[in-house]
Amino acid sequence: MRRLLAGPGPALPESPAGAPDVDLDEAYAYPAEAAQRAFVRSNFVCSADGAAEVDGRSGPLGGAADRRVFQLLRWLSDVVLVGAGTARHENYGPVVVPVERRERRRAAGLAEVPPVAVVTASAGLDPAARLFAVEVRPIVLTCAAAPAERRRALSAVADVVLCGEESVELEPAMAALTERGLTRVLTEGGPTLHAQLGAAGLLDELCLTVAPLLAGPGRLGIGQGAPWDGTVAMRLIHVLAEEDSLFLRYRRA
Ligand SMILES: NC(=O)c1ccc[n+]([C@@H]2O[C@H](COP(=O)([O-])OP(=O)(O)OC[C@H]3O[C@@H](n4cnc5c(N)ncnc54)[C@H](OP(=O)(O)O)[C@@H]3O)[C@@H](O)[C@H]2O)c1
Repeated sequence: MRRLLAGPGPALPESPAGAPDVDLDEAYAYPAEAAQRAFVRSNFVCSADGAAEVDGRSGPLGGAADRRVFQLLRWLSDVVLVGAGTARHENYGPVVVPVERRERRRAAGLAEVPPVAVVTASAGLDPAARLFAVEVRPIVLTCAAAPAERRRALSAVADVVLCGEESVELEPAMAALTERGLTRVLTEGGPTLHAQLGAAGLLDELCLTVAPLLAGPGRLGIGQGAPWDGTVAMRLIHVLAEEDSLFLRYRRA
């Protein structure tokens, strides 16, 4: 992977073709403040025309380099936060961390494996799903309106946390993660949760892979839901490229 536009750091060489492979750990390192407070980074892949899914899945959009970044961002995080729609559509499983990475995480003061935290108003998740048959208990962030029976069933396989009455209020949800020492929050969406995090001013970073294909109209983008009142200004941290994909990292301005 090569760097097309550097943020702070070494100057660009004359010819990107002669540049050494980018150190992705360095390129995606969390800032120091992410150890002190909930720091929310989102990671998405979209087509060049802005689609975040093809026939309900993100898989057709991402190539090998995107999968590498996707995994690395998980390995750098304390917790992977997803909406229940994504967990159901994508049949979410646990975060897989190889032995070598576990050691690096331990040395950096992180748990060996980050848990997955799912946001859901309905608590409509199957306790027998592969997400729950794992070494690290997932966290279910839900609300009082979720049927008590479902909450009870999920509490056998996950830490169930109530954060609101009719829906999950995202500030208390972030506070619940922070209480558990989970401040490097990586959200993988989906578009509905992502838009709410942005609207609430809780999104610190967006890591976006732009895939070299067109998906056509009628697809979800990376934000879904009611229009916002305004916009959120972002600053570009880097642009990386591999083959024909772009890897953009933005920070809230
Ligand atoms: N391209 C990418 O990188 C990418 C990444 C992720 C997802 N996707 C795609 O996006 C699609 C799914 O989109 P989506 O918008 O449905 O995903 P989503 O945001 O993951 O899921 C929406 C669901 O999350 C729960 N939720 C979100 N915010 C909530 C809140 N504040 N309080 C309570 N519950 C809340 C609700 O679950 P309940 O219904 O259980 O109450 C809601 O129905 C899939 O096709 C997936 O493949 C693409």
